[in-house]
Amino acid sequence: MKKICIVGASGKLGQYMVQHALDRGYEVVGVCRERSVGKLDGFKGRIAVIPGATNDREVIKRAVEGCDGVLTVLVPWGAHQYSSGTAQAVLDCAYPGARLIFSCGWHITLDGKDVYPQSLKREEKLARWLGRLTRIVDIDDQVEACRRIFASETRWTVVRGSDLEEGESQGLPVWSRHVGDPILESNMTRRVDYALFMVAALENDELVHEAPAIVGCRTPSAIAHAAESG
Ligand SMILES: NC(=O)c1ccc[n+]([C@@H]2O[C@H](COP(=O)([O-])OP(=O)(O)OC[C@H]3O[C@@H](n4cnc5c(N)ncnc54)[C@H](OP(=O)(O)O)[C@@H]3O)[C@@H](O)[C@H]2O)c1
Repeated sequence: MKKICIVGASGKLGQYMVQHALDRGYEVVGVCRERSVGKLDGFKGRIAVIPGATNDREVIKRAVEGCDGVLTVLVPWGAHQYSSGTAQAVLDCAYPGARLIFSCGWHITLDGKDVYPQSLKREEKLARWLGRLTRIVDIDDQVEACRRIFASETRWTVVRGSDLEEGESQGLPVWSRHVGDPILESNMTRRVDYALFMVAALENDELVHEAPAIVGCRTPSAIAHAAESG
């Protein structure tokens, strides 16, 4: 893999992904909103930046040209199908056979077998209610985005992030297929390591058509699991 595209490159997760991708020697094309281009000044001369809305098919078409991999930050912002529009544009415009990696949270489920803690259920309910009231976030649209990804025949992976914190890298997060599995109990990942997992997934075919729920490799639940499995 030589050239990759990062859709949503200017956000916190996006910038960490840019750095990891450059560290691995990839040629990087980043897409971000026009107003956010300045956030990528630290990478000037090292990446190509295409300004525009991430749900604009023409923008995505140009950005993914010649890319073997696309990393997409799926955010539920706005009330205009931003998330599903972004996912659809990437699904339709990426190279056939390209590795497509999408980010989202634990609240997304692939097979309905996740068992959610009450606290997370309450948070999601609140986010949905506030979203409908303010039209600032649209969780249902992020769910729709993932439904379309899961139904597609592309080589996708949807990486489901736990709660996130800042801090130095602790290494590649561990993962499980279902929220509720004991290894995930700590529900915390460093954002820099979430980005590392996304970038590493580009070259990990075992993750094709998986929706790994991740947790930091140094969290108590991950350490306890490692000790148990010897
Ligand atoms: N935050 C958490 O605790 C958490 C937990 C689990 C999973 N996740 C997942 O992690 C990913 C990144 O989340 P993050 O919290 O770390 O955010 P982030 O990296 O800061 O990314 C936010 C992204 O949303 C864009 N954005 C912000 N406001 C927008 C708007 N009004 N319209 C369109 N785009 C807008 C930003 O673009 P600009 O740079 O242009 O503003 C940026 O690309 C998401 O997929 C999220 O579902 C987050």
